[in-house]
Amino acid sequence: MGFTQMTTPSKHKKLLKWVDEMATMCQPDQIHWCDGSQEEYDQLFELMLANKTAVKLNDEKRPGSYLIRSDPSDVARVEDRTFVCPSKEEDAGPTNNWLAPEEMKEILVQKFTGAMQGRTLYVVPFSMGPLGSPIAHIGVQLTDSAYAAANMRIMTRMGVKVLDVLGADGEFVPCLHSVGAPLKEGQKDVPWPCNEEKYISHFPETREIWSYGSGYGGNALLGKKCFALRIASTMAREEGWLAEHMLILKLINPQGEKRYIAAAFPSACGKTNLAMLNPTVRGWQVECVGDDIAWMKFGADGRLYAINPEAGFFGVAPGTGDHSNPNAMAALKKNSIFTNVAMTEDKDVWWEEMTAESPARLTSWLGESWTPDSDKPSSHPNSRFTAPASQCPVIAKEYDDPNGVPISAILFGGRRATQVPLVTEATSWQHGTFLGSIMGSEKTAAATGDLGQLRYDPMAMLPFCGYNMADYWGHWLKIGATEGAVMPNIYCVNWFRKSDSGEFLWPGFGDNSRVLKWVFERCAGTADARQTAIGNLPTEGSLDVTGLDVSEEDMRQLLEVDVQAWLQELPGIREHYAQFGDAIPPSLNEEVDALQARLEAAQ
Ligand code: OXD
Ligand code: MN
Repeated sequence: MGFTQMTTPSKHKKLLKWVDEMATMCQPDQIHWCDGSQEEYDQLFELMLANKTAVKLNDEKRPGSYLIRSDPSDVARVEDRTFVCPSKEEDAGPTNNWLAPEEMKEILVQKFTGAMQGRTLYVVPFSMGPLGSPIAHIGVQLTDSAYAAANMRIMTRMGVKVLDVLGADGEFVPCLHSVGAPLKEGQKDVPWPCNEEKYISHFPETREIWSYGSGYGGNALLGKKCFALRIASTMAREEGWLAEHMLILKLINPQGEKRYIAAAFPSACGKTNLAMLNPTVRGWQVECVGDDIAWMKFGADGRLYAINPEAGFFGVAPGTGDHSNPNAMAALKKNSIFTNVAMTEDKDVWWEEMTAESPARLTSWLGESWTPDSDKPSSHPNSRFTAPASQCPVIAKEYDDPNGVPISAILFGGRRATQVPLVTEATSWQHGTFLGSIMGSEKTAAATGDLGQLRYDPMAMLPFCGYNMADYWGHWLKIGATEGAVMPNIYCVNWFRKSDSGEFLWPGFGDNSRVLKWVFERCAGTADARQTAIGNLPTEGSLDVTGLDVSEEDMRQLLEVDVQAWLQELPGIREHYAQFGDAIPPSLNEEVDALQARLEAAQ
């Protein structure tokens, strides 16, 4: 089984030369240029079914959908094997792994030589963002993974139409990917080929990605974290825009007025849920523009216009259910790929918390029989669904608008059991940048004794910033100082505050719309706030709590400023900054001093 090779559908000399050079190095058996058609997608799955990589799911329950089980060792992004390789180490900064580009290339050329023997090299042209949008950019991924090629068709605008936009000399980011498992003559393939040694390498100065050894998620779907965040953040720095780990949502008030909000949260803090929530406040509506990444460029009116560069959701499955995210559940009803989840006896999928009760019998993600009394979860905690964004019932029509949407507000959030209020408004762009730079999540692993220990994850970009994080903050400040810029308001939110007895104080999910409403009304100038040492908080009565089942005392705690706790965190903030040495923008150090002075005055 294989593809009949069509004639090369591109006249782009640089692209053809690169494909030729990489093929000479990787030595695949054949090259297939992906056209992005349904027939091609079906054929990719035929190959994966034949190789036992994929299982076809019940066509009545889950039409057009497949289950994939990866190698148990290849299940997540590998941050310790992810490298950012500018010429100078200081340009990667202390939070990235670094190797000099020539050194990394030398290693990788060796790894990639012959790496695709016995396999097909798929040429995957893709657009991050609506085709031809002035905010979008094009990439071409070369991969020997049919799984990666099939996922890229859902996650990006992929295929021959991209080559048309690229023309004979358009710009593209070359993305080379191999699972690193060449096949000798006659050697039988395994269902999930990969290599123990992995390199997810980024070359920001030449705008290239070389990923070796993994077939999974962010390591292998190179448009997502590698291009749309790590390489794009460096492009954005050079060109005066922002590439951020943010969802984009459209909020509509009962009068039909709309505002667009972008929000950054670390992985596994509910971005997909927030992006498509069903509001509990009467008459308000949320529509989804994106759930993971936002690219924002200035429009002629000085506002930041955002696109979602992706075309699908690559969401964490466990925890997703009708109770937490009915719109995601609807999106993945058909034409979806499920990776490392459990399978029911009638060949549908299941994962922890999809339903209140688990089925009596399942096949686990490891392919073993599973019952509810099993001591291991049925699905891997990082198991995923890949679903087309167009299938989400609340996808905004603007999701496909090449001009993007004007952003009114940016939210930063993490998991903070203590101290951080439900919502705080920054008093300026600089103050907001400061709040983003100190955002973080408390570790929840009580068993290891880590509870309460803070991991800073600035702007939720810690694993995704393609250059020195301190320079990235400098870029944020510079963007905010652009002449004629009309910047969004910035807010910190925290849905995860707990009572002394360890209960969540805030119900979250649909009730987060109450905070979104306050943000909307602040942007419109119709809601009140009180000034505090840490920023502006809702005045009593300005946050809509109609019908909300939260006691007055809990509301008071959710909106209190715990001056002592903030003072206690200051040394941690200074330590967090100290790792960047002199690279920290002076105005951010001034923000720390100013915060300290305000807290001391409030004592
Ligand atoms: C993701 C992540 O996959 O943030 O979106 O890890
Ligand atoms: Mn993410």
